[in-house]
Amino acid sequence: MRSAIQASPARFENGGKTALPLDTIIQGDCIGVLETLPESSIDLIFADPPYNLQLRQELYRPNMTRVDAVDDGWDKFASFRHYDDFTRCWLSACRRVLSNTGTLWVIGTYHNIYRVGAIMQDLGFWILNDIIWIKTNPMPNFRGVRFTNAHETLIWASKSEGSKYTFNHHGVKAFNDGKQMRSDWRLPICAGSERIRINGEKAHSTQKPAALLERIIVASSKPGDVVLDPFVGSGTTAAVAKQLHRHWIGIEKEPHYVEIARRRIQEVAPAIFDKIEEDPRDRSRAKRGPSFKDVVAAGLLKPGDPLYFSADLSRCAVVTTDARLEIGSFVGSIHQAGRHFSNGSPCNGWDHWYFMEKDETLRPIDVLRKRMDTHAS
Ligand SMILES: C[S@@+](CC[C@H](N)C(=O)[O-])C[C@H]1O[C@@H](n2cnc3c(N)ncnc32)[C@H](O)[C@@H]1O
Repeated sequence: MRSAIQASPARFENGGKTALPLDTIIQGDCIGVLETLPESSIDLIFADPPYNLQLRQELYRPNMTRVDAVDDGWDKFASFRHYDDFTRCWLSACRRVLSNTGTLWVIGTYHNIYRVGAIMQDLGFWILNDIIWIKTNPMPNFRGVRFTNAHETLIWASKSEGSKYTFNHHGVKAFNDGKQMRSDWRLPICAGSERIRINGEKAHSTQKPAALLERIIVASSKPGDVVLDPFVGSGTTAAVAKQLHRHWIGIEKEPHYVEIARRRIQEVAPAIFDKIEEDPRDRSRAKRGPSFKDVVAAGLLKPGDPLYFSADLSRCAVVTTDARLEIGSFVGSIHQAGRHFSNGSPCNGWDHWYFMEKDETLRPIDVLRKRMDTHAS
């Protein structure tokens, strides 16, 4: 198990990376900005580029309300050729700054991901995996003329064939109940309190869920590494990198998104301890019985329900839609959230988190797991 980390990213050694504008959002076109950064200086790049959705008309639901689709100016290209030229330019610029042991992630949909993938291979990137992000709450296909588009694809690639790279094989097991992590990830789209809104409207049409970035950053970087996002939008990558004790650099063309991202990141505190520790008990428990996710899936607890640490009503966490616990800006498993309140000491979340029964008695959540076992047998 890894030791607890109390330092902020600035305290990590970043050998030779002092020339980088660390922990900043830079306003500008990413192709030009990337040219100003030193060669081979970045450990991890996550890119969520324009999708080139090619929406020809506004979309309406059956009740004639307008669908809040991605129709922003930044997503419009005159033709596939223009999109490919743009893609080749930003991918080449990313490859130049990526360290020889670094990796690049690109997320996209069927509109663009095949073009992006081919250009990546043409430029010399070596594809390590494609990940399917299965949206547990996708937007329906309102016109009923195609399948509901319920996933996005992420391509993960190293700089060249055979280059070394970081893969935190054990750390990511924490996202899969202690078992080997697979290439299909089930996560909800960004909604509820996580979604940044201004006067009730979405601040950014394509804000990605923090849980997605958490997996990516934990899987393919180390504390103290430099994570760059050339299309940072509302700042998701930078906010999660900061929380996970990585350095971050975000590039964004639109000044109002830059403002939103800066404000958001300012409010993020680095997590008290290293979230990438694997709790070996998770693995043995996966063999022994239901996981916390199973308890939530069975409806014994619901997203939004409060839990209380050591039955203390002043130490509260909220169950998230992906069956973790949220305490302010911190989100983690029941064990990680338990350690949050025990100064980093190991904590068995099953015994320390309490829920309120209908009769207002507080009981440890382990009771719910046992109830599931009883129903199943
Ligand atoms: C798909 S969104 C990224 C959303 C982001 N992942 C988030 O969670 O908020 C793409 C972003 O790239 C920005 N963008 C488009 N072209 C750009 C360019 N050439 N350089 C920098 N940013 C650009 C857009 O303004 C938009 O905010």
